[in-house]
Amino acid sequence: MSNHTPVKTIEWVGDAGGSARIIDQTLLPTALRYLDIVEVSTMWEAIKVLRVRGAPAIGIAAAFGVYLAVRDSTAQDTAKLLGEIDEAASFLATSRPTAVNLFWALKRMQKLAARHAKLVDLGVPELKALLLAEATAMIDEDNAVCRSIGAHGAALLAKNSLNESINILTHCNAGGLATAQWGTALAPVYVAAEQGRTVHVFADETRPLLQGSRLTAWELHQAGIPVTVITDNMAATVMSKRRIDAVIVGTDRVAANGDVANKIGTFGVAILAKEFGIPFYVAAPLSSIDMELASGDLIPIEERKPDEITNGFGRRTAPIDVQVFNPAFDVTPHRYITALITEKGIIRAPYNETLQSVMSEQGGKVNEHGE
Ligand code: MRU
Repeated sequence: MSNHTPVKTIEWVGDAGGSARIIDQTLLPTALRYLDIVEVSTMWEAIKVLRVRGAPAIGIAAAFGVYLAVRDSTAQDTAKLLGEIDEAASFLATSRPTAVNLFWALKRMQKLAARHAKLVDLGVPELKALLLAEATAMIDEDNAVCRSIGAHGAALLAKNSLNESINILTHCNAGGLATAQWGTALAPVYVAAEQGRTVHVFADETRPLLQGSRLTAWELHQAGIPVTVITDNMAATVMSKRRIDAVIVGTDRVAANGDVANKIGTFGVAILAKEFGIPFYVAAPLSSIDMELASGDLIPIEERKPDEITNGFGRRTAPIDVQVFNPAFDVTPHRYITALITEKGIIRAPYNETLQSVMSEQGGKVNEHGE
C-alpha cells in the first residue's frame, strides 16, 4: 500500500503580491530546484524551454502568467485592463503550439475577465483578484480531475497471468510533473499502488529530451513504485516478451474524431501495442479535448531546435550542420486507441459520437462557473 503524495509542480505562494512557484524540470533528475516567477516574460520562457511542461501544467502556468502580466497594471478602468489581459494571452499563446490546455486556460481567463468587466460596480483591483483566484482554482480542479482519471484508469488494469505485477508501459512524462500534482497517465498507477496492487512501469526514455528517464523515472522512484527505463527502440522487444499488460500515455490534444497528439514516438508505441494485442490507453482530461478540430492532421505540431537532437545535454552526437527534423509531437490515429481515460469515465470508439456526447453533456462548461 503506497501513501505517497507527489511534489507540487506548480503553486501560488504568498498573497496577491506573491509568485508562481514551479519546479525547474530542466534540472531533474539531478536537482530539485524551485523557481519563483513574478514576470509574465519569465513564465513565457519557462514554458518555452520546458522548465514547466506537460499539457495541464502548461495551462495552469499560462493562467498565472496572465495574472502576473496585469498585476502591476496602472489601468484606471476594467475596459483598459481587459485589453491588457488579451495582450498577455496573445503573448503567452506564442510559447508552445500543440497542447490545447494552454489555449483552453488562456480563453478561460479572458472569458472570466470579459464577463466581470461588464459589471459596473467591479473595479480594477477586484478584477485582478479574480484572475489570481481563477488560476489558483485550476490547481484544485486539476488535482480532482487527475484523481478521477486515476480511479477510472486503475479499474481497467489487470495483470497478465505470466507477470508478477501489473506491467505498464508509458512514453514521455504524463505524471505529476506534467500536471499540478497527480498526473494523468501515471494517476492510475498511483491509485493502483494505493489500492495495494503491485505495479511496475516501463518508462520509455523519450528522445530527444528524455522526459521518460529524467522525469517519469524520477517521480516513480520518489513514490517507491518500481520503474524500468528502456530506450525508445526497446519497446518492441519488451512487448514481444509479453511483459506489458497495458500502455498508458498522456495527450496534448485530442481531435473530435479521437486522434491523439502526444510526445513524438507515441504513434510508434501504439502501432506496436496493436501488433502485440496490448491495450493502448490515452489518459485525457476534458481540457485536452479539442472539438474544434475534426481530425488529428489539423493539430499544430511544434518543431523544436535541431540542437536538441545533435547536441543534447551538452555532447555533440551528429556532424555540425547536418540536416535535422525535430517534431516534438506526433498524432496517433484513433483506430489504434483502445480507450480514452477521462475524469468522466472511459470513452471508447466510435469517438466522433462518444466524444461529442461527453463534451455536450459537459454543456460547453470548462469550470464550475460555466466559463
Ligand atoms: O514536450 P512536453 O514534455 O511538454 O510533452 C509532454 C507530453 O507529451 C505529455 O505526454 C502530454 O503533455 C500529456 S501531460 C499529462
